[in-house]
Amino acid sequence: NNILFVASECTPFVKTGGLADVVGSLPQVLNQHENTEVRVVLPLYEEIIEKWHEELEQVTSFVVPVGWRNQEAILYQLSYHGVVYYFIGNDYYFSRKGTYGYYDDGERFVFFSRAVIDALSLLDFKPNILHAHDWQAGLSVALANILQPIEALKTIFTIHNIKYQGIMPLDAFHELLNLPNDHIGGMEWNGLINCMKAGLYHADKITTVSPSYADEIKTTYFGEGLYPILNERHEDLVGIINGIDTDEYNPKTDQHIAFNYSHSRKKKKENKEDLQEKLGLPIDGEKPLYVMITRLVEQKGLHLVQAIIDEFLQEDVQFVLLGTGDYEFEDYFYHAAERNKDKLVAYLGFDEAIARQLYAASDFFVMPSLFEPCGLSQLIALQYKAVPIVRETGGLKDTITPYDEKTGTGNGFSFTNYNAHELLHVLRYALNIYHEPDHWATLQKNIIKSHFSWEDSSLEYIDFYQNILSTEEKTQD
Ligand code: GLC
Repeated sequence: NNILFVASECTPFVKTGGLADVVGSLPQVLNQHENTEVRVVLPLYEEIIEKWHEELEQVTSFVVPVGWRNQEAILYQLSYHGVVYYFIGNDYYFSRKGTYGYYDDGERFVFFSRAVIDALSLLDFKPNILHAHDWQAGLSVALANILQPIEALKTIFTIHNIKYQGIMPLDAFHELLNLPNDHIGGMEWNGLINCMKAGLYHADKITTVSPSYADEIKTTYFGEGLYPILNERHEDLVGIINGIDTDEYNPKTDQHIAFNYSHSRKKKKENKEDLQEKLGLPIDGEKPLYVMITRLVEQKGLHLVQAIIDEFLQEDVQFVLLGTGDYEFEDYFYHAAERNKDKLVAYLGFDEAIARQLYAASDFFVMPSLFEPCGLSQLIALQYKAVPIVRETGGLKDTITPYDEKTGTGNGFSFTNYNAHELLHVLRYALNIYHEPDHWATLQKNIIKSHFSWEDSSLEYIDFYQNILSTEEKTQD
């Protein structure tokens, strides 16, 4: 089976969030399975040209209609770790700093989606499945369905986060899409063109990145306005939990950390002391260290942390927050760190090396998300033997089981309601367990046993692809 992933970001080329990690790691694993070849198509952003120009090879160029204009698309490719990556280049749309956040993002991804569909007949690779990820690729699914660029192509649309939908005024349909008017309905939502809705409406199958999130988005609270269509299509919607690249996130071999280790608490403490020195915190390997590594946006539960951080820091602990994002949060935590000099560090930047050192140094990884489609950081934390403390939502609920003192089961701590005092309570409860050596040792053992590599989830995708293609054969008979 040949599968073409369509996405707007992918490690190691370009990353703003977890989407890039998934699009970067899953194809590499799938390609190790017999009879499966995944290739990936991405926009050629400026930063990709800067870093990869020597490897990029031009394949062809063609003209893409965007409304009354003709835009040139230049198709490039390169191979990396057993996967062929295609890139759609166009200076006007993509030779800009960064990825998204431009006034014409809608138009940029209309162009990208249309270019992907028009490129299909030019590739030396004939996909049976087009697998599109998040709103930026939503229109590629719609166009595949409407224009039928190649025979018997099946489509899958994966929701990594339903909050971001890619919305444009209705005029965009006429001005950008070059389609007959009877296709407005499949793309319109509340009087606007909605790229995510277009993907959900047109895809043969829909997936999201955890079973719990698949249930949640059918409700008004989590569905971000799109729950009616998800309910209509519930038979075609499944949740498959993400994995992480366990070679990349491995404390035994990670080059970014001071002391490599597999299970040793002693080595973790040495990493902690190394980090404390770097960040100017009092050096003490015994001091419980809580960390957060996150984009500073509402989704990640930062309002809860704001509400209780001063009170929690009355305890004999240290807390480090790493990330960038909304000014509201950067400003708040900057000042909170000023007030709590020996206990709180707010590192308002992003630095991969420091992130790895934090995973390695920390005792607890805090992730009190308002919603979380899957979440990868809690899985990385488990790899580095940091105990996740999470809110029971989406993928956090599916991957972290709260520690139970009676049965000695569980691989972390969790709380149910989006409530700051529930978070405070569980942060303190975790601290108690830290100070009880028997419980702490049991919890550590459970963490060593939790595995979230792609091994199992990639098999679920293989089955899923197989099922779509075999129902196709049946309908043809
Ligand atoms: C988005 C979601 C996150 C998920 C990731 C990869 O970033 O917010 O929960 O892990 O996509 O699917």
